[in-house]
Amino acid sequence: MKGHESKVHDAELVELHGIATEVGSLVVCQQSSVMDWDPIRTYFLYDVPNEASRGGHAHKELQQMIVAVAGSFEVELNDGSNQRTVLMRSPQMGLRLPPGLWRELKHFSGGAICLVLASHKYDEADYIRDWGEFLKFKR
Ligand code: TYD
Repeated sequence: MKGHESKVHDAELVELHGIATEVGSLVVCQQSSVMDWDPIRTYFLYDVPNEASRGGHAHKELQQMIVAVAGSFEVELNDGSNQRTVLMRSPQMGLRLPPGLWRELKHFSGGAICLVLASHKYDEADYIRDWGEFLKFKR
């Protein structure tokens, strides 16, 4: 899907494969079962103050899978026409984001960890950090 075509409902909350035993739980996020791209970069956010807002940008091509590995937070999505807020609070759910959605991550609970799998290496040229520019990109 091209970044300028994506809509907020194209972001999908998917169930990740979990293996729960009496010695703990394991969750797998694997190419082909939950996404059709290779996760070649992984990063995570932690120690985010509850009143802070992260994100505030869109990506032209990058695809991402977001998981609340611990705690909870909200992902507010906007495609230039519609807004959608997704509450992340289960380590067994992944939010698969197509390119071209403005996102803000907020209301992090204490101890929350936001794991992000990404389809490309870090590239500042892939970011749209200006709302007006984003609206032009989506037109
Ligand atoms: P940014 O993507 O704006 O963070 P967030 O969306 O969580 O608010 O990145 C914050 C800073 O970290 C910015 O200076 C770019 C840098 N950064 C990297 O160097 N490599 C990375 O893989 C990422 C995700 C960010």
